[in-house]
Amino acid sequence: MTIDDLGLGIKLSGQAGWNQTEADWRRFIELEPEGCFVGELNGRSVGTTTTCVFRKTAWIAMVLVDVNARHKGVGTTLLKHSIEYLKSRQVRTIRLDATSLGRPIYEKLGFVPDYELARFEGRATEARESVTVVAAAPELFAEIIEFDKRTTGRERAKMLGRLFEEFPENVRIVRRAGKIEGFITMRPGANAVQIGPCTATGEAGPALFCDALDRCAAKPVFVDIPLDNTEAVKVAESNELAVQRTLTRMSWGRKPVDNPQSSWASSGAEKG
Ligand SMILES: CC(C)(COP(=O)(O)OP(=O)(O)OC[C@H]1O[C@@H](n2cnc3c(N)ncnc32)[C@H](O)[C@@H]1OP(=O)(O)O)[C@@H](O)C(=O)NCCC(=O)NCCS
Repeated sequence: MTIDDLGLGIKLSGQAGWNQTEADWRRFIELEPEGCFVGELNGRSVGTTTTCVFRKTAWIAMVLVDVNARHKGVGTTLLKHSIEYLKSRQVRTIRLDATSLGRPIYEKLGFVPDYELARFEGRATEARESVTVVAAAPELFAEIIEFDKRTTGRERAKMLGRLFEEFPENVRIVRRAGKIEGFITMRPGANAVQIGPCTATGEAGPALFCDALDRCAAKPVFVDIPLDNTEAVKVAESNELAVQRTLTRMSWGRKPVDNPQSSWASSGAEKG
């Protein structure tokens, strides 16, 4: 898949009712130019998948097949091709967030469930918290990425760096005594503002979450929360967000290091 295939990507994510914009597709392709693929059926482009390599761990996303071309093996072929590509990159763990339609295909290819996430949706209302949240100066971005790695155990610097660069004004932090205790960001989507990723301590998480809702005042929002973070679920529910659907985070290969309790919002079913 190249930038010339952006139209196909936008068509397929729109058809599935997903939230990605042209900027999201562009980011997928630019972060892994050799690792995004188009599936063809009888010479027609009908499917997509993207990958993103973070050293020994990689993510697969945007597994989409045109409704008129499903159940013909295109999705499985795209997946197999992506796994081969990632093996050639010496990846040991492959991760993804599966919808109920995707999960059976992934299971057949050896993916196992790690935990569940729920996509909450709603209209943002004003919310107040006592912990102080401030805008993050770009000089702090590297420190935030280091905090994310230390706290979640996950390596996703490439994706976080790109999101911060694209939307520097959206990055907020809680910082006390010179130490970062959490961050949150957000970006526009086709249907709603996607809030996340947000990694934070138990005290900073609610403040960052409420600050993000405040900044979205009255706009539709989506936020994907690991159900293991029961405090984050409570904050979403107390702000009248409701579960739209659930996703299963799955992995292939070596079991991933992860700490879902520290994640108050994932990046949005795409790269953890
Ligand atoms: C999930 C999705 C990508 C699957 O694509 P697909 O091309 O239909 O996938 P496949 O054809 O490889 O497999 C689908 C089913 O068809 C079956 N199948 C494959 N080739 C077949 C053939 N030639 N004849 C009949 N059935 C076939 C598969 O065994 C599979 O069955 P199962 O659902 O019981 O496991 C597609 O449904 C989609 O785009 N959904 C919306 C977006 C989405 O949810 N994506 C997943 C994100 S995690």
